[in-house]
Amino acid sequence: MIDDCKLIEFSQKGDERGHLVIIEGNEDIPFDIKRVFYIYGSDHDVIRGRHANYNSEFVLINVSGTSKIKVDDGSSQRVFDLDRPHIGIYLPRLVWKDMYDFSEDSVLLCLASEHYDAEEYIRDYDRYLEIMKKGKTANNA
Ligand code: TYD
Repeated sequence: MIDDCKLIEFSQKGDERGHLVIIEGNEDIPFDIKRVFYIYGSDHDVIRGRHANYNSEFVLINVSGTSKIKVDDGSSQRVFDLDRPHIGIYLPRLVWKDMYDFSEDSVLLCLASEHYDAEEYIRDYDRYLEIMKKGKTANNA
């Protein structure tokens, strides 16, 4: 599952007037975009996220500034640097994510496959590990 977290490079149409980055739902990213939110003004030492989602897939893009995304599937972890406005990270369902190391000018744009539903968030890491362990056992049965 950690291998399903992937950096995506979006097409750019820059010219003498500046840059333009294009992201089309179901084309550049593997889902229909149902929700958009963005995070800015987070201090350098803040850790956001700290959750997994049962249903939502995400693509995260630092349209300004930089941040780091740590992904965790209960067995392994990986850290991605978001440091260019035309690069996104795709996060599948059920991946635990931490967003941190925000630059002062960081604007982290998040595209989601689902509308907001607090019930589909797993916010307790021990519970997340249990859910992932159960899933593994079920898959191996
Ligand atoms: P939270 O999930 O803690 O943000 P992050 O993942 O960046 O750490 O969300 C902060 C608050 O905003 C929380 O009360 C839930 C609410 N919220 C919504 O109402 N809709 C949304 O789409 C999101 C992402 C959050």
